[in-house]
Amino acid sequence: MTLVEYVRSTPFIVCAHRGASGIAPENTLASIQAALDSGAMMVELDVQVTRDNALVVFHDDHLDRTTDGKGLICDRTLDEVKSLDAGSWFDAKFNREHVPTLAEALLLVKGRAYVNIEIKPLIASVESATNIYAIVQTVIDAQMSEYTVFASFDHHALLYIKSIDPHLNTIALNVPNDQRLPHEVVRECLAAGYGCSLEELTIERVEDCIEHHIPIGVYTVNTPTELEYVLELGVQGVVSNYPDVVTKHYLSLRHSS
Ligand code: G3P
Ligand code: MG
Repeated sequence: MTLVEYVRSTPFIVCAHRGASGIAPENTLASIQAALDSGAMMVELDVQVTRDNALVVFHDDHLDRTTDGKGLICDRTLDEVKSLDAGSWFDAKFNREHVPTLAEALLLVKGRAYVNIEIKPLIASVESATNIYAIVQTVIDAQMSEYTVFASFDHHALLYIKSIDPHLNTIALNVPNDQRLPHEVVRECLAAGYGCSLEELTIERVEDCIEHHIPIGVYTVNTPTELEYVLELGVQGVVSNYPDVVTKHYLSLRHSS
């Protein structure tokens, strides 16, 4: 089933944030595998670009927090980045984890779950457009475009993605302090979905999404209490560091209702 068909047919989606980043080192194959094992139907990944233009699954600009390397990732070649330990900072048992390429991550998810690729805000430039194009092309090469959504706070990047192919799925992430209603935000950047943080979630935003048939997802929802709160408001999807906890609780609520 394509992502569009799935969103239409399911009442609720759990998306693993940077993989199951609460139980395995974020954005590694281990965290992606943990997300798949937890039953998450979607996996969110961040992408960075190395000095030699390789696309890798990585959140920060700098290597320091989540590897044993230092400095900007864009200053290192793929070989240099691949040589780093991307797991021990989380737990010694993950010392064999390395930074995956986007293609490696897609291969692991393919046929098992949908992918949410977050495009980090970029300074408008030919280089940025080239990088976004390369991300999209990697998804197309993996034959995953119908199973992928591109999410971003950078709404110009989303417009650019739609200009590459209007069938590509996008989600507009709410820019902090943007007071516009979701339908105004998604209309401007042609996004099919809307995302905001738990702190930004309001009844007005949810009602606006329901009125305009816009799927709304919320990040980051990690506990049963948070899950019940967003379900009560009518949210259709959550991004979670603990997709195992959230999925289990969602299923238990459904069984008891
Ligand atoms: O899904 C949105 C969320 O991933 C945005 O924040 O910093 O975790 O990439 P961040
Ligand atoms: Mg992200």
